[in-house]
Amino acid sequence: MSAPLIVVTRRPPGRALDILAEAGEVWVWPEDRAIPRDVLIDRVHDAEALYTMLTERVDAELLDAAPRLRVVSNMAVGVDNIDREACARRGIRVGHTPDVLTETTADMAWALLLAVSRRVVEGVDHVRAGRWRRWEPELLWGVDVSSTTLGVVGLGRIGAAVARRGRAFGMDVRYTSRRPKPALEEALGVSRVDLDTLLGTSDHVVLTAALTPETRYLIDRAALERMRPTATLVNVGRGPLIDTDALVTALSEGWIFGAGLDVTDPEPLPADHPLVELPNCVVVPHLGSSTRRTREAMAELAARNVVAALAGEPMPAELAATRES
Ligand code: DGY
Repeated sequence: MSAPLIVVTRRPPGRALDILAEAGEVWVWPEDRAIPRDVLIDRVHDAEALYTMLTERVDAELLDAAPRLRVVSNMAVGVDNIDREACARRGIRVGHTPDVLTETTADMAWALLLAVSRRVVEGVDHVRAGRWRRWEPELLWGVDVSSTTLGVVGLGRIGAAVARRGRAFGMDVRYTSRRPKPALEEALGVSRVDLDTLLGTSDHVVLTAALTPETRYLIDRAALERMRPTATLVNVGRGPLIDTDALVTALSEGWIFGAGLDVTDPEPLPADHPLVELPNCVVVPHLGSSTRRTREAMAELAARNVVAALAGEPMPAELAATRES
């Protein structure tokens, strides 16, 4: 019996390829960019495992081109790039990388929240432009973070880690989620409210929800109109949680104080996009989980998911066919 073919769409960091090599014959897209769709469709024909990044769309068309496929392992916790039901219909297991990136991503949410609230990037630009002449009593006033109200949209692992940071800053923390989370409410000292209440009463709103049909454009024009003019909005979930055009209007017209975006729609965002040019918007290129330790841990967990699935064993992080929370 020949070794199973494992198709890897981009060279992963750390020991991931060594781990995969124990389980089969590994083919890796050799270039330092996302694999073109037609190349991937061609390559998956004999694949029994597919190791993906969030840049690949795994849909019925791709799965139909991979009749031997047994597992898709995404090197990300978010799996909005994967049609899980289409995988389930074909008996294909799906793995992802929860937990290992939780704190790192929550750190990025916090970095953006502080940067936007305290105008860190504008301050750096001010110094670099040679405009720092003297101390001034009203220079680049920001908004407070400590002892304010934080609204967390989506109290999953990352949302809970953001909420914990908020509590450490003395914040009153509220959250929205599809289901109440009484154990977390008790452990973290947070309370569940509806989205309108959260938007209308929070000084800082952090989006950590997964992208689903229900959460797409959750933050639209009406939602932004509900927010306080002194509020900040941070997104470490997925870009399409926010209606980008509405956000540009809200930031330009001062409906909210500022926004910090780790993820955008479209992604990548062109350098001349209004969000990049607006002084009250801080955009970073989807860096939420981007530290060596975390990215290596994600890559290795995704590899272990493949190894377990090919051996017919429980995967370290397998997803059910449909969303459970
Ligand atoms: C994820 O894992 O879903 C992140 O967005 C990748 O950094």
